[in-house]
Amino acid sequence: MSFISSTQAIPEARTVPQHVAIIMDGNGRWATKRLLPRTAGHAKGVQSVRKVVQAAAKHGVKYLTLFAFSSENWRRPQEEVSLLMRLFMQALDREVAQLKNQGVRLRVIGDRSQFDVKLQNMMSKAEAATEANEAFHLTIAANYGGRWDILNATRRMLAQNPQLCHQPDQINEQEFAQYLSMAWAPEPDLFIRTGGEQRISNFLIWQLTYTELFFTEQYWPDFGEAALLDAFAWYRGRERRFGRTSAQVKIKTTV
Ligand code: IPE
Ligand code: IPE
Ligand code: MG
Repeated sequence: MSFISSTQAIPEARTVPQHVAIIMDGNGRWATKRLLPRTAGHAKGVQSVRKVVQAAAKHGVKYLTLFAFSSENWRRPQEEVSLLMRLFMQALDREVAQLKNQGVRLRVIGDRSQFDVKLQNMMSKAEAATEANEAFHLTIAANYGGRWDILNATRRMLAQNPQLCHQPDQINEQEFAQYLSMAWAPEPDLFIRTGGEQRISNFLIWQLTYTELFFTEQYWPDFGEAALLDAFAWYRGRERRFGRTSAQVKIKTTV
């Protein structure tokens, strides 16, 4: 099933965001503040992932997309990158069976070709094991970059439709968006970034066009159900206009 883009149609208003996308930031600073190595923050961050997945499902979210490793995170010290890969494997190893039983469909988006083959296989196995689930869609963005996604989509679209090279006018948003790595999901309603920075850091740049952006100072290891509910409360207070005027939105919601 494909979803209509926020620039083409107006999504239905909901009190709970259907799709939440999170930049899980601040692990390193959480640890440094406690005089611990940065890696301890990443280990603690995995616990927040578990808590937030459960809380999001419990409160009616259908799609949760978590930024775990950006295409620029390879620039970090080698030991930190290796630890992150180990944590990734450990989490897949430990959590997949339970996710499967809970009706969670797990997917990984990003360029996997640069990961260790063992990790690539674990990702594919985890996806296959949960592919029949539809209650909740958990997506992990790993070696993901929004620019990569757009370039990759462009390459795939042209490879599959070489005639478009001579008919560029035939390319429209709907056509193009089918080739993005999250074509199967609605665009995020709510974006959350923990850790205090107010930037997108090459996350879902195409899909965040009309997403409500929530930034919190809390570090990711401190983020849990209560913090998620605070973000939902903030979200409910937003007026999503999608280009219309406030008066138009009010008429629409009171009819
Ligand atoms: C987010 O926390 C985790 C990853 C990027 C993998 P950080 O490691 O970026 O934590 P800070 O921003 O340095 O505190
Ligand atoms: C963004 O966090 C990526 C992830 C959380 C995986 P970063 O900590 O890498 O972002 P910048 O470098 O501060 O923008
Ligand atoms: Mg960071």
